[in-house]
Amino acid sequence: HEGALWGGRFDTGPSPELVALSRSTHFDWRLALYDIAGSHAHAKALAAAGLLSFEEEAELHRGLDVLTQRFTSGALKPDAQDEDVHGALERLLVAEVGPEVGGRLRAGRSRNDQIATLFRSYLLDHCRVVSGAVLDLVGALRTQAHDHLDVIMPGRTHLQHAQPVLLSHHLLAHAWALVRDVDRLADWIRRTAAESPYGGGALAGSSLGLDPGLVAAELGYGGPAANSIDATASRDFVAEFAYVTAQIGIDVSRLAEELILWSTREFGFITLHDSWSTGSSIMPQKKNPDIAELARGKAGRLVGNLTGLLTTLKALPLAYNRDLQEDKEPVFDSIDTLEVLLPAMTGMVATLTFDAARMAELAPQGFSLATDVAEWLVRQGVAFRDAHEIAGACVRRCEQLGCDLPDLSDADFAAMSPHLTPEVRSVLTVEGSVASRTGAGGTAPVRVREQLAQLDVAVARA
Ligand code: ARG
Repeated sequence: HEGALWGGRFDTGPSPELVALSRSTHFDWRLALYDIAGSHAHAKALAAAGLLSFEEEAELHRGLDVLTQRFTSGALKPDAQDEDVHGALERLLVAEVGPEVGGRLRAGRSRNDQIATLFRSYLLDHCRVVSGAVLDLVGALRTQAHDHLDVIMPGRTHLQHAQPVLLSHHLLAHAWALVRDVDRLADWIRRTAAESPYGGGALAGSSLGLDPGLVAAELGYGGPAANSIDATASRDFVAEFAYVTAQIGIDVSRLAEELILWSTREFGFITLHDSWSTGSSIMPQKKNPDIAELARGKAGRLVGNLTGLLTTLKALPLAYNRDLQEDKEPVFDSIDTLEVLLPAMTGMVATLTFDAARMAELAPQGFSLATDVAEWLVRQGVAFRDAHEIAGACVRRCEQLGCDLPDLSDADFAAMSPHLTPEVRSVLTVEGSVASRTGAGGTAPVRVREQLAQLDVAVARA
């Protein structure tokens, strides 16, 4: 096969079984344009080192441009014998410019430094896409939070009613987690775009006087890697990317799980838009939160991609080993997954309608104002240990009577503690409770309005 990049020392060609196992074109072909960009840059480095004439360099750029056009139109394809994207593209380039010129391009580079570079470039581009899609979801949460600043809901811990909070406060909690993920991606970009492995060769660098700094600059990297072994053998940039995408999956799944719960009859907090929910093939009445369920399910897949990759990397000796070919499919899958999942989540969140009356009705239930009673007592000078006991006794009394805290009479309160004067009723409304939580980061409307502005600043920086 004329596309093989090796063969001189072999008496026989590879067995069909080896070819079948070895082939990676079915997943690495998506790196073709990055490989071509690397080849353009490498041709410049070869010319700068005097290893290509001006005409030869121009002919290589022309051939690479033809390959780019044919790739973009969908006409460029690897064949069944091509081992990987690098071999396929060299075969196709040689077919375009001839073996004399085409055969010069490989000098001083190896698939090992090539793949380490292309893979970075691909992830850098898609990182920006994923970041944008996460920010779109943040935007949808922010708009819903902004539009529902007057809605109070039951805040929960242990999934039990805990304290009333603003719906906006809760929605923004999800937004902040996602903003941190975007920040993680930005941090990853900074580190990953700093160093180009190109020029590392197979592992030891080049003897041909090539300038890896030139290639790095051409490809948009800060500079060449400091160590050719590290450049070709390390994949922590892949693992870190897989972690951040898994974390995005986890954060989205936590939002998804709540939306699934909130859309049940028992909660009744939200209604999904028809265009963003699904029906049942047998039960005519059904309206299901499939987007949220797929988000929950795909989080498992994103975590699996991370663990699979880390397991591949564990205890690999330096430098390049063929095991490293297994590093691509997991993160390609994570990217593909998020690039379809995030827009669907965004659309679902943007079109949610909230049942404010239902939330308001449930917000004070489950004695969610007991903390307010205790803290009111503290403001009257009672020690918190005592205040906690007194408020707890109020709850016990309510359970005996089968009522809620505001239903207790003045006499009931006075019987519990002389400190419990009728003024305690000022905190026995959910509005009073929420308005009182004015500490930094609290759920008081005044703080949540500030939080929207803080979020806008963080998003503008992202
Ligand atoms: N296709 C390989 C990969 O994805 C790169 C080729 C390196 N192969 C080699 N035999 N050194 O990692």
